[in-house]
Amino acid sequence: MSKMLEETRQQPEALSRTLEEASDALQKLRHRFQRHRPKLVILVARGTSDNAAQFGRYLIEITTQIPVSMAAPSVVTLYHSELDLTDALMVGISQSGESTDTNAVLEDARSRGAVTLGITNEPSSAMARICEYALFARAEKEESVAATKTYACQLMAFYLLACALGGKVDPEALRRLPDQVDRALRLEDSIAQLAAEYAAMTRAVTVGRGLNYANALEFGLKLMETCYVVAERFSAADLMHGPIAMVERAFPVFVFAPAGVTWPSISYVLDRVRELRAQTLVITDSTNAEAAARGSRIIQLPDAVEEIYTPIPYIVPAQLFAAHLAAIKGLDADRPRTLQKVTLTM
Ligand code: F6R
Repeated sequence: MSKMLEETRQQPEALSRTLEEASDALQKLRHRFQRHRPKLVILVARGTSDNAAQFGRYLIEITTQIPVSMAAPSVVTLYHSELDLTDALMVGISQSGESTDTNAVLEDARSRGAVTLGITNEPSSAMARICEYALFARAEKEESVAATKTYACQLMAFYLLACALGGKVDPEALRRLPDQVDRALRLEDSIAQLAAEYAAMTRAVTVGRGLNYANALEFGLKLMETCYVVAERFSAADLMHGPIAMVERAFPVFVFAPAGVTWPSISYVLDRVRELRAQTLVITDSTNAEAAARGSRIIQLPDAVEEIYTPIPYIVPAQLFAAHLAAIKGLDADRPRTLQKVTLTM
């Protein structure tokens, strides 16, 4: 069995630990932000961590009304622009805490007076040293090159950060997430069977909207790095602005479809791709009966989850799907060709 699969299955404990062990850090951050509320949050990350950052961007803007921007590291590392970071909070997200350009941007931001926070799995990493504050993903060692449990824990860390910034996040709902993930993991056998039907897949699109756009990015990344599937990743809105033209009969389309504010946009996409006779796999839960009727195939999580808390349980079927598809294709999900666990870029 791949480490990727093992680590995917460890997520309920990893999420509980991340939640339980954050209280001191959370209190410190809360005090700091009560004294001085940032006017802008900037997120800097690469790869899977950057996908988690996309979630953080939506979550913080929705729950705190503080604008969030995604850093472009080359602006600092190659163009050496001296950004005005007055009243900014710069947040780095990195599983290893060793991504070079992410850390260079944090170091520069700290020297310019920004408050810096590292969200990392490694307390002894360079990122934890560089930043004034840290929130730890308590996923324990992640050995597979393909990140799984660290992604889920980074999303959890963003809920905690949103709380610290005064955002409306329900701690009870966070405490329910590990059990919801556990129940999602119980779908593994049926997901493995589904994955077998995609053994010949070489291209696909993944689609999400709002808070689940990050999951579309992350599912696509998992399909690319572990299964070598060319996966283009879109918000439901952007898909309609051109890329829909490549969708044709039997084209694989993977869609995250929770109930709630994003559903009208997602259901519009599902109707269009059905007209085109695409092969649609819909990930949804028991609250969205309409979604269940819309896809050619469906993965339905058993829990009724409010949209704002869907991204963590919803990524689980995607991780399981990618890990099983890699095994079916005879690929080593833990050691994709060309990749190392830590990628150094500037
Ligand atoms: C994907 C993956 C990579 C890393 C990226 C950043 O599964 O593992 O995309 O997420 O290289 O690494 P960290 O998070 O260590 O900064």
